[in-house]
Amino acid sequence: MSSDNPKIDTPMATLSVGGKTIDMPVRSGTVGPDVIDVGRLYKETGCFNYDPGFTSTANCSSKITYIDGDAGMLLHRGYPIDQLAVQSNFLEVCFLLLNGELPNEPEYEEFQLAITRHTMLHEQMTRFYTGFRRDAHPMAVMCGVVGALSAFYHDSTDINDPEQRTIAARRLIAKMPTIAAMAYKYSVGQPFIYPRNDLDFSANFLQMCFAVPCAPYTVDPVIARALDRIFILHADHEQNASTSTVRLAGSSGANPFACIAAGIACLWGPAHGGANEAALNMLTEIGTVDRIPEYIKKAKDKTSGFRLMGFGHRVYKNYDPRAKVMQKTCHEVLDALGIRNEPLLQVAMELERIALEDDYFVEKKLYPNIDFYSGITLRAIGFPVEMFTVLFAVARTVGWVAQWKEMIEDPEQRIGRPRQLYIGAPLRDYVPRGQRG
Ligand code: CMC
Repeated sequence: MSSDNPKIDTPMATLSVGGKTIDMPVRSGTVGPDVIDVGRLYKETGCFNYDPGFTSTANCSSKITYIDGDAGMLLHRGYPIDQLAVQSNFLEVCFLLLNGELPNEPEYEEFQLAITRHTMLHEQMTRFYTGFRRDAHPMAVMCGVVGALSAFYHDSTDINDPEQRTIAARRLIAKMPTIAAMAYKYSVGQPFIYPRNDLDFSANFLQMCFAVPCAPYTVDPVIARALDRIFILHADHEQNASTSTVRLAGSSGANPFACIAAGIACLWGPAHGGANEAALNMLTEIGTVDRIPEYIKKAKDKTSGFRLMGFGHRVYKNYDPRAKVMQKTCHEVLDALGIRNEPLLQVAMELERIALEDDYFVEKKLYPNIDFYSGITLRAIGFPVEMFTVLFAVARTVGWVAQWKEMIEDPEQRIGRPRQLYIGAPLRDYVPRGQRG
């Protein structure tokens, strides 16, 4: 219903606190839950909104990704993830996330060319790697080297220039695989392999990781396609911890390279991107199907501190739609590589079956997430566990960058500055050291 004064039609939520009543506008998106705009809460009531972990807090409006956790639905710019994973390719999804629409042929060609042209790193950056210990975790190397990009590409750090923002976005998407592959090569003591612009995004990444100068290397197209699909599945996921970190870092006006380095640091944790590594380690530790009940029991025991890694999600209270595609991809990769009866896959499938029939997991709506099957797949392709979260970072870079750009271009954008419930000592006078009890 239209009105001359739109405010009259705006639904309101009413809150009474400390004898004061405040009406707050309820805003609707295109789909999904409404939000209550609490922006005037403090000014009008003197109270803050308290929500540790942001379980009920929307921090921004966004047009990029939509998740319906109850339905197990994930949409990028409206397109379901399973359609994108099967019918699209990673670069096309990158274009979609960045620009809002799928590219037509000339747009795709221009984008592909631009990404390809930015794959090389400034040669001086290669010397960064030798400053790290060989046994450094590649995510530690990623945090350092990606942060250092801002020391090299000064012509794309002005966040107020739209042209520079676009160049920075493209540089990050293009250079991240090169940085990641070099981190891997350094850790195994092999020479760096330069990017090859005649290969597509995922095939190029495979050759930078697995080719050596002394022998020919041919990329297996089935594996390249599988890796491309894995990248699509990880490309963006709405306001998750690392994306929110990138947005918060960017809200101060920090340059995009520094912001993405902050996102990488956040992704590293085992509750987030580090879960794929933790899930594979857990499956390896379980080892055989007969030990599963012991681990299920441990996961249900709160005093054990143990959780089933690759299980549960803050938003999905249904099967993670990415996990479904990942499980299929896992089977395809193992088949293509001729790996029969992979013991870890047997453990994973049986663990999933038992957990999904167990009251504890059913009641808490804990389902496998994307990390449950990704580790087995990546290991079969040849990546060591330490590289799993690095691959997640390579894929998520486009999501971080798209969300960062959207934030910078949002007229409502302000520096992110949460408040707190202070529970420390109230005002008291300083006592000189000799007079303290
Ligand atoms: N194993 C056993 N119990 C669990 C698990 C699990 N994996 N996950 C949640 N629970 C229990 C938890 O103990 C709690 O029980 P109660 O209500 O009795 O206290 C309840 O389920 C709700 O858990 P929560 O920790 O309050 O939920 P959250 O939304 O804060 O955490 C999560 C979500 C993903 C961090 C958590 O499920 C978890 O730690 N999972 C394992 C790590 C993992 O697989 N992470 C990858 C997430 S998907 C990839 C990504 O986006 O990064």
